[in-house]
Amino acid sequence: MGEALNGVKRTIMCGDVRESNIGEKITVMGWVQRKRNLGGLIFVDLRDREGILQVMFGDAINSEAFNKADTVRSEYCIAVTGEVVKRESVNPNMPTGMVELKGESIKILSESETPPIYIKEDLDASEAIRLKYRYLDLRRPDMQNIFKIRHRATKAVRDFLDKEGFLEMETPMLTKSTPEGARDYLVPSRNYPGMFYALPQSPQLFKQLLMVSGYDKYFQIVKCFRDEDLRANRQPEFTQIDLEMSFVEQNHVMELNEALVSHVFKEVLGHEISLPIKRMPFKEAMEKYGSDKPDLRFGMEIKDLSEAVKSSDFKVFADTLSNGGSVRCLTVKGGASMGRKDIDRLGEFVKTYKAKGLAWIQYKEEEIKSPIAKFLKEEEMKAIIDKAEAEVGDLILIVGDKNSVVFSSLGALRLELAKKFDLIKDKNEFNFVWITEFPLLEYDEEEGRYFAAHHPFTMPMDEDIEYLDSDPGKVRAKAYDLVLNGEELGGGSIRIHDTSLQEKMFNVLGFTSESAWERFGFLLEAFKFGPPPHGGLAFGLDRMVMFLAGTDNIKDVIAFPKNQNAFCPLTEAPGVVDENQLVDLGIKKIETLSKEEK
Ligand code: AMO
Ligand code: AMP
Repeated sequence: MGEALNGVKRTIMCGDVRESNIGEKITVMGWVQRKRNLGGLIFVDLRDREGILQVMFGDAINSEAFNKADTVRSEYCIAVTGEVVKRESVNPNMPTGMVELKGESIKILSESETPPIYIKEDLDASEAIRLKYRYLDLRRPDMQNIFKIRHRATKAVRDFLDKEGFLEMETPMLTKSTPEGARDYLVPSRNYPGMFYALPQSPQLFKQLLMVSGYDKYFQIVKCFRDEDLRANRQPEFTQIDLEMSFVEQNHVMELNEALVSHVFKEVLGHEISLPIKRMPFKEAMEKYGSDKPDLRFGMEIKDLSEAVKSSDFKVFADTLSNGGSVRCLTVKGGASMGRKDIDRLGEFVKTYKAKGLAWIQYKEEEIKSPIAKFLKEEEMKAIIDKAEAEVGDLILIVGDKNSVVFSSLGALRLELAKKFDLIKDKNEFNFVWITEFPLLEYDEEEGRYFAAHHPFTMPMDEDIEYLDSDPGKVRAKAYDLVLNGEELGGGSIRIHDTSLQEKMFNVLGFTSESAWERFGFLLEAFKFGPPPHGGLAFGLDRMVMFLAGTDNIKDVIAFPKNQNAFCPLTEAPGVVDENQLVDLGIKKIETLSKEEK
């Protein structure tokens, strides 16, 4: 049984004890990292959130404390009182390494079984076991450091936005579906059997309503829920730094947000981001990097070879060009010596992005080797090498296809080659870029209709509004994403605040007037009452903390994350519920439905 504190009060954290405390009588409380018994002396490393302090118990100092200390084991929770003394064998690797605590009394507050994982930095236990015993995993100093960083980041966000005149306001979790493009998490209603609330994919509609209400500048650090396929940077519930501003244009929102990010990186890491952050239109990002979230830490831009090969005898390229596609390449510096097997592997790689093949040219001193050389006249080969900006020793990798395939395959290949050739030299670099002028709409060939690329409330660019009816695919949006090292950190837009334009937008998206009113009537109705021009943005807080903490796994920055299958190994959620609860909700499980009902 653990002892009660009985009036004993902690005076200092273990990790905070320094030489200046020598001679003081202190009380510390924490967990036993390890214990060594050297005969007449016992050394205990005592750990709390702030660090580790060495405690010494001596038979000759206090034999009662000494005997009790001998019974403690790893992860026992204890309290020790004693005097801070200078340490005999100094440990320069520990902040408390100059001192130790001479233990005069000890309380065993609780005992611990042998923990299933070691409480230490750089643990290599499996994810399953770490998540099952997450509370022990979270005891580890490197995890505690991450959550200190997360705290400092959210505090920096709040401080900055408060100074800029933003109000932090909450919006409902039990709400109607928000159109952010993912599947909703639904919550059944007891009062309205057969009806469901949706958990918010974002506070998008409510923050726009708050602008109609005159709150002017709103922000919220808020949980969002999206039932989508999980990846290293995606969780089903994640946190946004969500904000919205009235009476602003695109530039105002972008400037405010880059100042916000700059403040956070400065406060948390002492890192200066040079402002303004560069901007790149979507079209340029796609053409040069094959991605709307380009990693600009290395070059290797995509080059367009369409002109150079337009009259070649290679039928694949000729057909591609006559069908409106393009032929483009990457040039790998010094890559000409890459073996056939390696090149073939790259060919397999681009096929996973739907490319039909990967043509290549090895530009060697003694010869030019290529499976398509036989189709190319000498001046065509010259033009390709010229366009590709290739020099002797380089390898040219070519894909010809419709543009979407060319960009996605070469964009992915570019990242793959950067890994293979270790092209990202400065691992501590933070390379930010704003991507702007996104297409407003995306055409879905399977469904045969347009979808909103961002969401249906995004304002078209003024000069493109005229194409909304005639050529919707050409319309660009007042939308912007902030990209860091090839990851999307946040995104937002200026919103439509004009009811007739909003209705037109719904029309282009294939909503009938009735269905638009059914889903978003409350917003359309609100816009009848003097909505201000407004716009905003949301950052993924978890993703931001990943960069601040230097981890590439989003689970590291969320205290209690789900695994890749949206399951929580700790609580074993989702779980079954009582049959009675289902009856209350008017819900029948599908396996209990008859065949006809299914
Ligand atoms: P968007 O859908 O781009 O915009 O989301 C904003 C940011 O949220 C982060 N994010 C995620 N992080 C972790 N796991 C996920 N599943 C996940 N999904 C998104 C990303 C992303 O950039 N309402 C708009 C914003 C606006 O227009 O103001 C919105 O939600 O970092
Ligand atoms: P083939 O004559 O079909 O053997 O193709 C010659 C070379 O062109 C091979 O290296 C193929 O991988 C490559 N290739 C085939 N289709 C394409 C394409 N759409 N784009 C680029 N290269 C291709």
